[in-house]
Amino acid sequence: MSFDLQELIHSRNGENVALQRENINPQFARVLRLIGFDKVYVRGVGQYLYDEQDCEYLDMLAGYAVHNVGRNHPTVIQALKDLMDSQPATLVQMDAPLLSGLLAERLKELTPEALDTVYFTNSGTEGVETAIKFARKSTRRPRVLFCDHSFHGLSNGSLSLNTDESYRDGFDPLIPGCDKVQLNDREALASELAKEDVAAFVLEPVQGKGVFIAEDEYLREARELCTRHGARLVFDEVQTGFGRTGKMFALEHPGVEPDILVVSKALSAGLVPVGAVLTSRSIYDGVFDSLDNCVVHSSTFGQGAYAMAAGIATLHVFEEEGLVENSRRMGELLLEGLRELAGRFELVKDVRGRGLMIGIELGEPASLKLKMGWKLASKLQKGLVAQAMVMSLLADHRILTQVAGHGMEVIKLIPSLVIDESDVKRFLTAFEDVLERSHRFPGPIWEFTTRLAKHALKR
Ligand SMILES: Cc1ncc(COP(=O)(O)O)c(C=O)c1O
Repeated sequence: MSFDLQELIHSRNGENVALQRENINPQFARVLRLIGFDKVYVRGVGQYLYDEQDCEYLDMLAGYAVHNVGRNHPTVIQALKDLMDSQPATLVQMDAPLLSGLLAERLKELTPEALDTVYFTNSGTEGVETAIKFARKSTRRPRVLFCDHSFHGLSNGSLSLNTDESYRDGFDPLIPGCDKVQLNDREALASELAKEDVAAFVLEPVQGKGVFIAEDEYLREARELCTRHGARLVFDEVQTGFGRTGKMFALEHPGVEPDILVVSKALSAGLVPVGAVLTSRSIYDGVFDSLDNCVVHSSTFGQGAYAMAAGIATLHVFEEEGLVENSRRMGELLLEGLRELAGRFELVKDVRGRGLMIGIELGEPASLKLKMGWKLASKLQKGLVAQAMVMSLLADHRILTQVAGHGMEVIKLIPSLVIDESDVKRFLTAFEDVLERSHRFPGPIWEFTTRLAKHALKR
């Protein structure tokens, strides 16, 4: 019998959550059920997802910011099909593949001139691990500084640059020499760097958890301090890269050149795992410092032809479609609309973001009844109100969003960069409705929070 993938999918569709529960991650399956996210999506096009009934969902999550050019972009799909049809000599290993050379060349054109050497990875966390190793070996120093609230991935090195106990608990000891500084606190950074034992200061220009923004002036000072004290400045642009913040890379906002730039996620249009670390030849040579050491850091799938082809095609799409400019414009429209809502709805405490990376922070309301609901929910667990709103956006409006981190009352928006004015309007209208519901106490949003808390307590 011949293999028929379509037939397999067709015959088993609908078993998704049960298969997840039985074979992969039962707790995650439980969470999906609990928050009403146990949908079966069967198709994705651009900024939209479709379920079995062909109902359309506006995806403001974009696979955690991998689908910047939109889901299943035809140009990238065609490139992959063409490559497949050519029966490529991929993963020979003992050769220098053409496509990785070409993608490296293109990445260099888009980034500061000093970043003239590229190392390819398969994920964001692998890029951060690479940055830690490159910084340590090229400086021969032990310490790594990182910021509060940062997220750089969940492998051991990246996890060592993370303060969230819910991620760290049970995994100690992590790698030594990693110390936290507060984001935007210049003095704290200066005093740590002055010890002259720091290999790297690693940070996200806009933090994924909570959408906290590194101030331009702080980033410029960080550059100056790292240079003065011989530490490598590492920008983790795994999430902020490729148009997300309204510039191709967020480093363009302050005009700062890091020593090491880590990218991943959107580089291959969400189709093939990929990542890259850009650095200077002198740092690279400090790691790969002899013929014996020519592969001292590497990974089997690192320059896979499909990832490379998807990357080249994706960068072509960015150029063709003006997506960076669209991210800036749609981001401004969204922020403007959200700020208007913040003026009318007391639960909204702050709206912040850059381009299409936006955080909506909720906070304690002033009016008595609502305050009571807020206090009750906060006592049960922080982050429940934001989670209840995210649930309502999906259940009542078919809009997919997320909370911006554990125990945070922040809703995060990171849609595909192809969204247009009608999507922005659709989101703002829906969010206004969710806000109206949540400003009624008692009401459905507050019932959600109690239900969620009860389940969390049962865990
Ligand atoms: C800023 C940042 N760095 C690193 C990572 C880790 O990437 P990955 O999940 O591909 O390992 C993420 C993932 O969300 C991220 O947002």
